[in-house]
Amino acid sequence: MRLLVCGGAGFIGSNFVRLRVRDHGDEVVVLDKLTYAGRRENLADLPEVPLVVGDIADREAVDEAIGDGVDAIVNFAAETHVDRSIAEPDAFITTNGQGTYQLLEAARRHEVERYVQISTDEVYGSIEVGSFTEESPIVPSSPYSASKAGADLLVLSYFHTYGLPALICRGSNNYGPYQYPEKLIPLMILNALHGDPLPVYGDGMQVRNWLYVEDFGRGIGHVLAHGTPGEVYNVGGPDECPNIEVVKRIVELTGADPSIIEYVADRPGHDRRYSLASEKIRALGWEAQVRFEEGLERTVQWYRERRDWWEPIRSGEYREYYERQYGRRLS
Ligand code: NAD
Ligand code: TYD
Repeated sequence: MRLLVCGGAGFIGSNFVRLRVRDHGDEVVVLDKLTYAGRRENLADLPEVPLVVGDIADREAVDEAIGDGVDAIVNFAAETHVDRSIAEPDAFITTNGQGTYQLLEAARRHEVERYVQISTDEVYGSIEVGSFTEESPIVPSSPYSASKAGADLLVLSYFHTYGLPALICRGSNNYGPYQYPEKLIPLMILNALHGDPLPVYGDGMQVRNWLYVEDFGRGIGHVLAHGTPGEVYNVGGPDECPNIEVVKRIVELTGADPSIIEYVADRPGHDRRYSLASEKIRALGWEAQVRFEEGLERTVQWYRERRDWWEPIRSGEYREYYERQYGRRLS
């Protein structure tokens, strides 16, 4: 297949591109704005993949990336961090809203055979017991999840109104190589390796449904190949874990001193638990292959080995962000 992968220089996008090029022999073009979260280095081992640097909300950039045509567009491009959306929602509204709109328009103009929107379990809001199905109501809590929910509704409207062959994949929390260290797992790994405090929000008993990034990529591949247009597919991880247990396991795996764990002020509007029912994508033949215990070990090992990848990040924009986000919270 010839694929346009938007946001392919980010965490999940770059892992997906690697999977498609190596295992499926797809021809891939990446369109990415290279925000703080997008990095050329994430695609350094894939020199055959052209990277068009541009904004998904810019019609001309999208047309340039599509060139003579593509079979499918897979959209990962987004502002993705909940804490940043609480502090500064602006870019979330433009990229996740206006950006998705421009991609849908381009998909119509170029008559692509498939449009796959990458979405999140966070659009369903929080669930104390049980799991969300694709029929569950959309009740997002944060500016991030609200902007993603708005995008999902727009995608579905393009299917219903214009017959665009659009599909949605809603993944649970991903982790693995190349994740920007603002998210829980890489943040805790790098802080633990440095002996820095591990800032646990609130009581640390919030639960996330962890999905290894390659399993998500395989799930998206199943939806791309076998999904029904107009449908939503949940892609949930095999294991759930309270944050504090994740942090304690990272302490063990890195050999850090447990006294660096520090409870800090909670995130406003913090969702207590996410959990996805994934029967619908299982019926397409997908199954998660990596259990949390194994995936976490692999991830810690990757960050140990890839100092060359994270060292430039820790010394750049990230340092200012970290100070703003944690400076006053940490003792
Ligand atoms: P990320 O922040 O690592 O990467 C986002 C990428 O999008 C970056 O490369 C960035 O440069 C690019 N981008 C941002 N704004 C852009 C714009 N206007 N135009 C072009 N490119 C732009 O994010 P991620 O964790 O890889 O998430 C990818 C997608 O998966 C997102 O849509 C996110 O909502 C969704 N998702 C993430 C998770 C998770 O746990 N990380 C879980 C489920 C779904
Ligand atoms: P995060 O990685 O931001 O993903 P999301 O909010 O999209 O689920 O956070 C995962 C969980 O970890 C969430 O409950 C918030 C919590 N968390 C902390 O306790 N401390 C931190 O420093 C961060 C970044 C997250």
